[in-house]
Amino acid sequence: MKLRKTLEHIVPYAPGKLKEGAIKLASNENPLGPSPKAIARINEIAATVSLYPDAGVVKLRDAVAMKLGVERDNLIFGNGSDEVLCLITGAYIEEGDNTVTSEHTFSEYTFATVLFGGKVKYAPMQDGRFDLSRILELIDSRTKIVFLCNPNNPTGTSFGEKEFQAFMEGVPPKVLVVSDEAYREYVERPDFPDTLRIIRQYPNLVVLRTFSKIYGLAGLRVGYGVGSQEVIADFYKTKTPFNVNLLAQEAALAALEDVEFVKRSIETNRKGKEYLYHEFDRLGLKYYPSDANFVCVHVGRDSMEVFRRIMDLGVTIRPLRSFQLDEWIRVTVGTEAQNRKFVECLEQALQV
Ligand SMILES: Cc1ncc(COP(=O)(O)O)c(C=O)c1O
Repeated sequence: MKLRKTLEHIVPYAPGKLKEGAIKLASNENPLGPSPKAIARINEIAATVSLYPDAGVVKLRDAVAMKLGVERDNLIFGNGSDEVLCLITGAYIEEGDNTVTSEHTFSEYTFATVLFGGKVKYAPMQDGRFDLSRILELIDSRTKIVFLCNPNNPTGTSFGEKEFQAFMEGVPPKVLVVSDEAYREYVERPDFPDTLRIIRQYPNLVVLRTFSKIYGLAGLRVGYGVGSQEVIADFYKTKTPFNVNLLAQEAALAALEDVEFVKRSIETNRKGKEYLYHEFDRLGLKYYPSDANFVCVHVGRDSMEVFRRIMDLGVTIRPLRSFQLDEWIRVTVGTEAQNRKFVECLEQALQV
């Protein structure tokens, strides 16, 4: 068998190491679990999984369209927003094309590009922040897509509306901009870009959102893209028919209505971040104030070593070597008890 040339350098995704019984603060999941309404709905419909799901995801698409104030045809759903990324690159990347993003960001932009024979160009960051002007400078005649992560995983930083509008003005209309907003619901800054309004102005803008974080449904895999009907129609050409499973569609619908759970998740996250900031200050550790549900902390030594020590003590976090941030870790904001345990372990790990 002859592997496609473009795949020769792809290393299959390695799931983070887990220790049985350890508290998991490694993947930015919701520490409150899934929305209780979603659990109830899954139990109610468990016996119907002998049937195929709705290939058009119609009920969920209509509910999300209503909530966001867009039309059904502005939305496409995927098996997580990870899959939507691949639907997008599958639609536009030809061998030899490139995409542009930043260094120190979510790795799936690279995977989705390379999968279809493209190359990725990385702009440097400015103190943990996307540098949108450097990204603009990297766009060339073979650039098909720009990936922005707002707030950024793993640094937790974000950019505001003014900066984003100026950026969009500078992007050639033939280049698609993907604004990945997986952590949007946690953001509190009032000037965060209103991308759902801005997509009306720019048919070359797509926004990605997910049910994996605030709604606590990471295990079910539901994410979606919002954009002009024109680009969304292109992505439907690369989609397999039943890509969002039956339980996922129904649970996401129930979770969408669970306003109380979303509020509680935001509040838990806000309090948890305050506590963690306070503790990092006490320990003299630099961190980036985060607009998401995780914090990126400078541990000042090999993060793999710190990761192993913390894991031995009962908590898993994410060492950021694979993001080329060797001396940094990323910790998901947990419940009060989980955060306390993590700080205890971190303090101990750093004493060695
Ligand atoms: C920035 C970002 N985008 C997308 C995803 C993937 O989300 P999903 O679970 O919807 O595939 C993640 C997951 O961690 C993420 O951090």
